[in-house]
Amino acid sequence: MTDIVTDKQAVTSVPVHPTIAHRWSPRALDPAVRISSERLRALLEAARWAPSFGNTQPARYLVGRRGEPAFDKIFGVLNRGNQQWAGNAAALLLAVALTSNEKGELPYAEYGAGLASENLVLQAVAEGLVAHQMAGFDHEAAAAAFNLPAHVRPLVVIAVGALGDPDELSERNQGRERAPRERVPLAEFAFTGEWGTPAFE
Ligand SMILES: Cc1cc2nc3c(=O)[nH]c(=O)nc-3n(C[C@H](O)[C@H](O)[C@H](O)COP(=O)(O)O)c2cc1C
Repeated sequence: MTDIVTDKQAVTSVPVHPTIAHRWSPRALDPAVRISSERLRALLEAARWAPSFGNTQPARYLVGRRGEPAFDKIFGVLNRGNQQWAGNAAALLLAVALTSNEKGELPYAEYGAGLASENLVLQAVAEGLVAHQMAGFDHEAAAAAFNLPAHVRPLVVIAVGALGDPDELSERNQGRERAPRERVPLAEFAFTGEWGTPAFE
């Protein structure tokens, strides 16, 4: 393998935790790498222990390792752009939110599912894996494929795997893979006093 983009570490004005700094969303995944059931379990445990509004725990996952029928189902609903690279994932996970329970609508359901998914992603990074979230899939087809009840809303597919060779990607995706990561400056991100007054320069 050549020129593996191993490090697209976040550029920060002060150090942040290495797990956060080293998380990014690669498309080049190693097709030879599998994930053990125990490691996958750890990712889901990390997600399960996320905080949620009133401990309502709205996040749920449909999970498939490469070679399993659930993987194929999730892969099958991805849009074409995501299908170009996500088939090399060791596992695909469909993150969904329970939007209501017997007491009515669940407030902050998507927020809760987002928190759970970031826990999952960071656990993957902490274990030396990579994870890439995708909204680019057919949500209705995903709901049908897994027979989701009406109150269960598909949100993202998460590809988990090991970093691979960017030369194997399409030309467009090679460019994206090697492009610098960007964020709004901290001065436009955190305010104090009133809106627009930077908390940090
Ligand atoms: C909700 C959500 C949906 C996303 N959808 C896609 C997608 O369909 N395809 C894709 O390649 N990346 C997708 N991404 C990845 C983002 O493009 C990526 O996180 C963003 O560009 C920042 O890059 P970084 O994660 O490497 O820091 C998605 C990320 C999130 C959080």
